[in-house]
Amino acid sequence: MDPHHEDLKENGESNDENNNHVCKKIKISPLISDSEIRDEFSHHDPGVARINNGSFGSCPASIIAANKQWLLRFLRQPDDFFFNQLRKGILESRSVIKNLINADDVEEVSIVDNATTAAAIVLQQIGWAFAEGRFQKGDAVVMLHYAYGAVKKSIQAYVYRSGGYVIEVQLPFPVDSNEEIIAEFRKALEKGKSNGKKVRLAVIDHITSMPSVIIPVKELVKICREEGVDQVFVDAAHAIGNVEVDMKEIGADFYTSNLHKWFFCPPSVAFLYCRNSSELSDLHHPVVSHEYGNGLAIESAWIGTRDYSSQLVVPSVLDFVNRFEGGIEGIRKRNHDVVVEMGEMLAKSWGTNLGSPPDMCSSMVMVGLPASLGISSEADTFKLRTHLRESFGVEVPIYFKTPTDGNKDGCITGYARISHQIYNTVDDYYKFRDAINQLVQESFNCMMLLPN
Ligand SMILES: Cc1ncc(COP(=O)(O)O)c(C=O)c1O
Repeated sequence: MDPHHEDLKENGESNDENNNHVCKKIKISPLISDSEIRDEFSHHDPGVARINNGSFGSCPASIIAANKQWLLRFLRQPDDFFFNQLRKGILESRSVIKNLINADDVEEVSIVDNATTAAAIVLQQIGWAFAEGRFQKGDAVVMLHYAYGAVKKSIQAYVYRSGGYVIEVQLPFPVDSNEEIIAEFRKALEKGKSNGKKVRLAVIDHITSMPSVIIPVKELVKICREEGVDQVFVDAAHAIGNVEVDMKEIGADFYTSNLHKWFFCPPSVAFLYCRNSSELSDLHHPVVSHEYGNGLAIESAWIGTRDYSSQLVVPSVLDFVNRFEGGIEGIRKRNHDVVVEMGEMLAKSWGTNLGSPPDMCSSMVMVGLPASLGISSEADTFKLRTHLRESFGVEVPIYFKTPTDGNKDGCITGYARISHQIYNTVDDYYKFRDAINQLVQESFNCMMLLPN
């Protein structure tokens, strides 16, 4: 057993008074070497420059092995596992997360499959509030224009159908400063409060997916409080391991982050933090089980028979990240520095620019692609992405930026979202740089590609 598991009390809290923040933990293993890092990711396809950690994350071999061990414990003696191990194991994972995110109480932390599920939990109770007459038809939910597609659909399904008025915050891209975002956010809140209506919920991304930008979430939550917004949900699907995450600092009612994107967990596991408050207790997992009514954390810990292993490896992942200098904080700072350096190198080579200043980038950076590639629609971005994968062995998502003045000639209409994670090398980015330079040299245009 890992030493830090041994001092867990019954309720999953650690006896160590000083471990509120993970970076303060005493290191228990020697630092990982470069060759050990390579071994941990030797299952990655060697033919692909994988500069898209943002989409699906990555899982090292030692964690895949730990995941398998948990599954075998279940398969060896399912009844003993169910009665004696599962709940305790999930509580340990919740306790690790509680410390990572600086929550007050382990009861505020539920483990769910992914950010999509967390959004459904939060939005479902908003739907009920409309249906049960606690919110009035026409009361508003505010979300960013760049909210994740699945979350927008969830808002459509749970809020719009129940009579809620959905307002999108129009965000500029490329973006130069937090102030531009804050100004647009204030406008959307004003709109929501016009005609005597109320803003019942604000959905704020911590890091938008596409285009990827860090949102000044602390400032926006503060504005929501000043403006009387009922509830604030932060969709931080990319956050843990990628930006600083501190529940007391951010002050949202609900906050979710995947652990399979930037925290090395196997697919799939996420947490949903719900601030302790009696007003907000009507939260339920959308998959109803025997545990219905026993609190969200317990409901979420049993949604019927299935494989729970990915939720149980969180303490092992903490041990893994603590083998790096500075733990998860050290990893994220180095990833950020390197991805900015790589983004600037690519922009310089292609004569383009980054989509935001470095301090608005996480471990993902938007890099402008040469205008001569002729990216003129979202369909073109998918065609080009497929072409880069199949002909050049580069995996990278691309964003289509509609030209603001309608004139596409000479302006950047495509931005690549590059990621950096511990397994990447500078050659991955050189491969991408050279692929684009070759396409430009050959006078390639997206019109030449057949639809996907
Ligand atoms: C901002 C944002 N929200 C939600 C999600 C959904 O995450 P998942 O597919 O793990 O549920 C993503 C996935 O990339 C995302 O970027």
